[in-house]
Amino acid sequence: MRDPAAYDRGFARLTSYTVEPLLDALGPRPRRLLDLGCGTGVVTAAALALGAEVTAVDSSPAMLDVVARRHPGATVRGATLPVLPFDDGSFDAAAGNFVINHVTDTPATLAELHRVLRPGGALALTWWTSEEMTATNVFAEALAAARVPYEPPARPFTAVERPERFAGLLTAAGFGEVGVRTLRWRHRVDPAAWWTGVVEAAGPRFEVITRQPPETLARVRACYDRLAAPYAAAGFPVCARLAHGLR
Ligand SMILES: C[S@@+](CC[C@H](N)C(=O)[O-])C[C@H]1O[C@@H](n2cnc3c(N)ncnc32)[C@H](O)[C@@H]1O
Repeated sequence: MRDPAAYDRGFARLTSYTVEPLLDALGPRPRRLLDLGCGTGVVTAAALALGAEVTAVDSSPAMLDVVARRHPGATVRGATLPVLPFDDGSFDAAAGNFVINHVTDTPATLAELHRVLRPGGALALTWWTSEEMTATNVFAEALAAARVPYEPPARPFTAVERPERFAGLLTAAGFGEVGVRTLRWRHRVDPAAWWTGVVEAAGPRFEVITRQPPETLARVRACYDRLAAPYAAAGFPVCARLAHGLR
């Protein structure tokens, strides 16, 4: 992520929608909570407000700097899943808002999460459904409409994202009381502000847009404006899954 401040202004408004159901899925208020792939800290902020002792981890030092500045009450650690630098049974709960879809080895990640949770500890994870994510697919559609060659980065998670498949992996990793729910909502945002937020943040999926020469960029932007316009009033449809289980 090139610009955490842009991520915070743009994408974090989209990810915030699932923070409440994610924390609710953990059950009664956990004391020691691990925020996985904390980004700019939407889960950390909500968990601190609930009185949890929060440890926030991310693979991006820039994201961690934001969380450390913004939430001095949280413990902030660099970590790249599937490896976590914590002892067995260190946490009562672990929550990952839109990070599991970034990891390349889902079974190894779930095994590591099982290890760092105490017996009875709760896990909750969200991810986007790749085919129903209009709020980001509109950028890929704009690139195609502007005839800009675009190969989305490999997303190994797609192979395991179906609810029954993911639930099976949770069970195989040793989790019980496993469930996967679908969350749908509309991301109500000014399409021009959404363009700025996503393009300036330059995350791995759409940094290709920032690399274009000015005239190509203008063409992509014109296509985006046309494709995004129908969603200006009611918002972009969004679909995510929420998985939970107990160690
Ligand atoms: C879409 S953002 C979500 C951030 C935050 N949880 C939120 O809801 O806004 C994904 C985050 O996961 C981090 N990330 C990506 N791959 C990771 C990995 N393998 N281990 C740890 N963090 C990772 C990224 O740096 C980014 O901050």
